[in-house]
Amino acid sequence: PPLLAQVSPADTSASKYLVAYPHQYRFILDEPNRCWQESPFLVLMIPVAPHNREARDIIHNTWVKETTVLDRVVSHYFLLGLSKEKDGTEPLVEQESQTHHDILQSDFLDSYSNLTIKTMVMFEWLSSHCPNTSYAMKVDSDMFLNVPNLVEMLLKAPRNLYMTGMVARGASVLRYRNSKWFLPVSVFPESKYPPYALGLGYVFSLDLPKKILEASAHVKAVYIEDVYVGLCMRHLGIALTDPPRDGLFRTTMPYFPSNCYWTSVITTILENSNQLSDVWGKYQIQAQSGC
Ligand SMILES: *[C@@H]1O[C@H](CO)[C@@H](O)[C@H](O)[C@H]1NC(C)=O
Ligand SMILES: *[C@@H]1O[C@H](CO)[C@@H](O)[C@H](O)[C@H]1NC(C)=O
Repeated sequence: PPLLAQVSPADTSASKYLVAYPHQYRFILDEPNRCWQESPFLVLMIPVAPHNREARDIIHNTWVKETTVLDRVVSHYFLLGLSKEKDGTEPLVEQESQTHHDILQSDFLDSYSNLTIKTMVMFEWLSSHCPNTSYAMKVDSDMFLNVPNLVEMLLKAPRNLYMTGMVARGASVLRYRNSKWFLPVSVFPESKYPPYALGLGYVFSLDLPKKILEASAHVKAVYIEDVYVGLCMRHLGIALTDPPRDGLFRTTMPYFPSNCYWTSVITTILENSNQLSDVWGKYQIQAQSGC
């Protein structure tokens, strides 16, 4: 649901474009030991709304199914806030957590305009729980993700100060009030954003979370999460890295994808997570046909 539907045209109050961060949030569902015990090479962090069990189930059956990829351990966690309907935990989510051990639920209200909080608690969790992990990816639940291609790219990537994905450069700040990503001049006076990696899927080395958290103490927390990470990266003076070749991180699926399309990309945005089951079948066929 578009955030700005609720914003009346006359409202220029800056505070609704900022989130409560830094702030002491607390995990009410956690996996405190898994990451350091398993020491994965790569951790996939998937933000998803608490009620969206369907998306989590589809992901279990698709891109997180293989936990060893090219001889590297890959693990995943779902990131949740509190659901709007109830306060506290939902019994079903608790049950799911006991079954799959992959739910991290923090105690902020899960909403579109609080995504920056979700991303920042993700960085907090990674920096304190994954001492032996090389890389993490923040990836949305409605994406196609080719994990073998991702691992292959990372095996040749820089080990430090590294962030890549779909890098937006010179993006304009949207000043139309009814835009989904509106920011008023009073909150962010510059007309362009510094480079940032689109929030749908970005990858980073595990030395970055701690640095980004340090930067966040000095950078006003705007509600647009990927822009905010970009602002923290600028504060740190760390440049974003472009992927090694074009076409790995794709926004939209081509109208007529080639025979080996799904085996050649790392990400593609889908319409919803249901489409993922269908696309996954095509990917399997391509992978088996020697693409
Ligand atoms: C964001 O989370 C905070 C902390 O839970 C909450 O007070 C606030 O209402 C939330 N904001 C929105 C717009 O959901
Ligand atoms: C992972 O890190 C912890 C804490 O630094 C350390 O005690 C442990 O030996 C490491 N495990 C591996 C497999 O490297």
